[in-house]
Amino acid sequence: MARLEIEGPCKLRGEVSIHGAKNSALPLLAACLLCNGECILHNCPGLSDVDICIRILEHLGCKVKRSGSDVAVDATALTHSDIPDYLMREMRSSIVFLGAILTRAGQARLSLPGGCELGPRPIDLHLAALRKLGVKIKESHGCMQCTTGSGLVGSDISLSFPSVGATENIMLTAVCAKGITVIHNAAREPEICDLAHFLNRCGAHITGAGEGTIIIDGVQSLHGCEHTVIADRIAAATFMAAAAVTGSHIALRNIIPRHLASVLPIFEEAGCSCYLNGNDLEIIGPERLRPMKLVRTMPYPGFPTDAQAPVMTMAALADGNSMFVETIFENRYKHVCELVRLGAKIKLEGRVAIIEGVPELYGTNVGAAELRGAAALVVAGLAANGKTCVYGLKYLDRGYEHIEESLSQLGAVIIRK
Ligand code: EPZ
Repeated sequence: MARLEIEGPCKLRGEVSIHGAKNSALPLLAACLLCNGECILHNCPGLSDVDICIRILEHLGCKVKRSGSDVAVDATALTHSDIPDYLMREMRSSIVFLGAILTRAGQARLSLPGGCELGPRPIDLHLAALRKLGVKIKESHGCMQCTTGSGLVGSDISLSFPSVGATENIMLTAVCAKGITVIHNAAREPEICDLAHFLNRCGAHITGAGEGTIIIDGVQSLHGCEHTVIADRIAAATFMAAAAVTGSHIALRNIIPRHLASVLPIFEEAGCSCYLNGNDLEIIGPERLRPMKLVRTMPYPGFPTDAQAPVMTMAALADGNSMFVETIFENRYKHVCELVRLGAKIKLEGRVAIIEGVPELYGTNVGAAELRGAAALVVAGLAANGKTCVYGLKYLDRGYEHIEESLSQLGAVIIRK
């Protein structure tokens, strides 16, 4: 079985350029569907989730050309308005295509995205919002048959939770609807701002992205544009954690500092020194990490749930006890049992994890069960004594571009087998 073999402990040095954000590239690729003409996305990461998005776009009739991190999408001639079940199952976040297909084709047929490694992934907020915009949705046999009836109409929508995906789906459904849509309690993640920025470049009228209330004034149509995907703040946090657990001094290039505002204080509390200089960040990990009193995951601008697993690896090696509270997903501790196999001392009580730091971890075989947990196991392997084999690379490759090459360039002894 494919695995990463890591010889630890290691010291890292040098610099790493942070790739484009997976969680921005996916909705941006869906948004390309809305445009008459060609869109070019720069800094699009080479990830398996992006590959699936491109397969969906091609299935719908788009012409897609890829050259390095540039992806050109021409959605002029659509031929389908459905997403085959096998593609929906490969990536549950394909639900973000629903709004874009409806806006473009007036109908859409998708299978209900199953749960995933993080627990049931309901889409009730998506569907309730789309119904308010005039979408008729029939659910049967695990499929959704959607039509826009007499057309999409702007509406006042309040989200009970600032769901990232639901906010994106509403934006993609409302952008060409008749009239004004207001989203209250919208998600404020940087990826939402990146999507609004892209859509406005294509001729949309969206204001308030990044704040709690987004206002969308529907337009007739959208044209193509060129856009650069923002840097991946979670990949940045992951490389920071690698430096932290190995007591290394590395530089991260092409980051967006304000997107890490809730992450930096946690690293500094753990004893890391972080120096920002424009879009670069230097981080120096301490000889021994300090515990983190409380890491509570929250919607942006709070501490990101996607950074919880890699940062927990730091707590596992800290000189004292740390407490984590995962408030976003109900089942996002699957990496804990694998960290314990490496020698970590972690107790779980529902959404609360208590980590009693240990001086050392010991290499062994570990298996990932979801994307960010996979990253945590790689980070742990860099610090563990001896050889760590990380299995479950299909999860890792969803969100990290050639992570073993980047870590090798930083001096890690890591090979993909
Ligand atoms: C996005 O997922 C990201 N994925 C996730 O990143 C990220 O963890 C999450 O936002 C939170 O920041 C992409 O952008 C592709 P949500 P999404 O809707 O949109 C509940 C990674 O590792 N909810 O904000 O699915 C849901 O169950 C991935 O890169 C409903 O109850 O997240 C969860 O508890 C993992 N009903 C919470 O909201 C709904 O209709 C957050 O979900 C929708 C969501």
